[in-house]
Amino acid sequence: MKFELDISKTFNFINEKELTNLEPVIKVYHDFINSKQGVGNDFLGWSNLPVEYNEDEFERIKILADKIKNKCDVLVNIGIGGSYLGAKAAIELFSHSFFDLLKGDKKNGVKVIFAGNNMSSKYLSDLMDAIEDKDVCLNVISKSGTTTEPAIAFRILKDFIERKYGLQESKNRIFITTDKEKGTLKSLADKEGYETFVIPDDVGGRYSVLTAVGLLPMAASGIDITSVMEGARDAYDEFSKIYCEDSSLNICYKYAAVRNSLYRKGKLIEVLSNFEPSFQYFGEWWKQLFGESEGKDGKGIFPVSCNFSTDLHSMGQYIQDGLRNFFETFINVAKSEKIIEIGEIEGNIDGLNFLKGKNLHYVNSKAFLGTLYAHYKGNVPCIVLNMPEVSERAFGYLIYFFEKACAMSGFLLGVNPFDQPGVENYKNNMFSLLGKPGYAKLEFNE
Ligand code: PA5
Repeated sequence: MKFELDISKTFNFINEKELTNLEPVIKVYHDFINSKQGVGNDFLGWSNLPVEYNEDEFERIKILADKIKNKCDVLVNIGIGGSYLGAKAAIELFSHSFFDLLKGDKKNGVKVIFAGNNMSSKYLSDLMDAIEDKDVCLNVISKSGTTTEPAIAFRILKDFIERKYGLQESKNRIFITTDKEKGTLKSLADKEGYETFVIPDDVGGRYSVLTAVGLLPMAASGIDITSVMEGARDAYDEFSKIYCEDSSLNICYKYAAVRNSLYRKGKLIEVLSNFEPSFQYFGEWWKQLFGESEGKDGKGIFPVSCNFSTDLHSMGQYIQDGLRNFFETFINVAKSEKIIEIGEIEGNIDGLNFLKGKNLHYVNSKAFLGTLYAHYKGNVPCIVLNMPEVSERAFGYLIYFFEKACAMSGFLLGVNPFDQPGVENYKNNMFSLLGKPGYAKLEFNE
């Protein structure tokens, strides 16, 4: 399984020397990551997860996932931000696109539904309507244990579960992933006797996919988490060295160096593009990872994502022809698991007989190449990450690739990639408006 990074279509905008100039700094930050020094050093636990993950907990996740699969129709996964996007990305990537319409014996794994990532009355009320007659378990994920959106959803859904199954049985249906000793969620879990999993102290929310945060919902949905960790381990091994055998930078640091060089040339936005609809939530996970890690101190590349070819009919015009202040990173998947061959029709009424015998993935791959070439010719710097296949192992690799690239990118930008001080501002205003004790009255005209 070999990932490749093609940066040749950025050389109209940056040159190799600019990348070489960053190498001494990359070496310093590489050592910081390895030796857990420097800014944000207490949040570098993610970097060793592929080789140091708690084996007992990993086994417990697999056992519980099997129990959930046998016991439930639906697992409601409560969490927000880093406490849900990784699992959501993986489940969208690997679940059948029309899981709900499949016959029972074709379904592998439980249906995972997400809650606690918004405060919509319609969403939560519709969710409770939909699961009323289903067998349900709840998985609550919050590192701090105090985040408002999941806390409110849990309060409501806990009541729902307890009314449905009674207090005793509910204890077998509620699982908690949180800090090992702090927070209200941990206290509640201890009091009620819920099964708990740990988010290590030194792993921040958006870097936590490869802990129980991501692994438990993934495993319950039928994803092979052993392969996910193996893929992450492949990436860990590859990026533990700064240089490849041919003495070029490893592709993870090369990506970080290219995006940093483009940013310095006024390319302030990065568009992550894919040609598979199942990647939509991968884009959401990636946006949070980079947006929350880099957007601070008045700096940072603004991350957006596009799903092609769908968005070529909505965003394509802007990308081709609009303001030239962005660059594009394509995830290009080499092969498709499913093959659909295009046939011939009599009279060639739709004019598509020239595609006879070709498969749909082949057509999609030409759509990718055509788009890449068009955007590049339209003066968009284009990076291509070639992904060999969509497999659990490749997913694990991709997660670790972007996590490490994000940490390096943040360091190159001169920010702490592991904090998120700005997220507190809306919460403080909201609590003030809600009259939470201890919050001063909010004056809009101040
Ligand atoms: O990356 C982060 O730290 C955040 O996005 C958090 O994951 C998010 O705010 C949820 O926090 P918590 O897990 O404490 O509920």
